[in-house]
Formats: sequence, C-alpha cells, structure tokens
Amino acid sequence: MKVPDAVDGVVLDEETIAARVRELAARISADYVADDDLVLVGVLKGAFIFLADLTRRLTVHHHVDFIALSSYNRGTVTTGEVRLIMDTRASVTGRHVLIVEDIVDTGSTLDYLLRTFRARNPASLRSCILLSKPTRRQVEVPVDYLGFEIPDVWVVGYGLDYADRFRTLPYIGALKREVHE
Ligand code: PRP
Repeated sequence: MKVPDAVDGVVLDEETIAARVRELAARISADYVADDDLVLVGVLKGAFIFLADLTRRLTVHHHVDFIALSSYNRGTVTTGEVRLIMDTRASVTGRHVLIVEDIVDTGSTLDYLLRTFRARNPASLRSCILLSKPTRRQVEVPVDYLGFEIPDVWVVGYGLDYADRFRTLPYIGALKREVHE
C-alpha cells in the first residue's frame, strides 16, 4: 500500500499489530473465562478499528458498547479537559467493564474514563490500550493490557488520526513533523 506524502514511515506494520492483538485477546480471554458479563467499551472514534479486531479474537462471551468523548484542544495541544458527548447504550453497573482505547498520551482521557465508570459500580474495571506514550504522561493511569509503548511521535492509522484523516491506514505510521507543527 502506498504511504501518503504526509507520513514519514511505518512505525508498526499490519502483521506486527495483528500478532499483538492476538496476544492481547488470548490474555483477556483467559482472564475473563469465569466472568459471564463482560462488556468492552470502545472509545470513539480512535478505538473503532482496534476494538473491531480485538473483539473478533476473543473466545469468551462478551458485549460491545461505545462511548464518545471530546477533548478540548488548542490547536494540536490538548488542555486535559474531557467532555462526554455520547454515553454507552446499556448500563455497566454490576458488569465487568473493559475500556478499549487506541492511545494513552497525557492520561487525561483514561483518567476521566476510569473515574466516570468507577462511579457506576461495575463488577470490575480494567483498560486495554493499543499504544502508550509514557514520556507524555501528566496523569498516572493504570493500563491493564497494553499493545505497544511508542516514543513521542504523532502517529496515524489503524484508527488514529490527524485532523480526522489517515484513520483507515492499515498500519501505524509517523506523521511528518512539518504537517502538524
Ligand atoms: C485521542 C485518543 C484518546 C486521547 C488520549 O483522542 O483516542 O482518547 O486522545 O489522549 P490523552 O491521554 O492526552 O487524554 P482524540 O481526542 O484524538 O479523539 P479521537 O479518538 O476521536 O481521534
């Protein structure tokens, strides 16, 4: 597949991502084998491709739900404020909740999600995150299942965007600095 001009190179190729998603799905399936009410909550929009691949690899019965958030950005810099713009369709009270996200950057979004869902008294609450940029962290957040740690580069593809573009690239690529600076 042709790499767009705005993309510097491939950070994680399709095979590498697929292999890691299989590993994560196997671990999650083993950990939840005794729990009969697991719900994966995908965070729109970024998580939709990761969630679609992960959920089809799980061997335990589970449900899928979605939540949509909006973070207040100043240009390309996040302010850390998060707003709920679409809630899950079903209640999560008493259920095993696994939050599925594409990336943890400053940690503000995951921190907001964990606080929000904890207040709803789930049977358990964990997070499954494809990518983490540890050097960017401003809020310490627990990640129970992590795909990859990556350096502080702007990544696009496999659900991740720049100005809502490049989400459907099948790999994860680095955006050229001059595009976002
Ligand atoms: C991205 C990503 C996470 C959040 C992580 O969402 O999907 O939700 O940023 O950043 P943080 O750790 O600094 O809070 P974005 O606001 O780009 O929305 P999107 O998922 O719709 O692309």
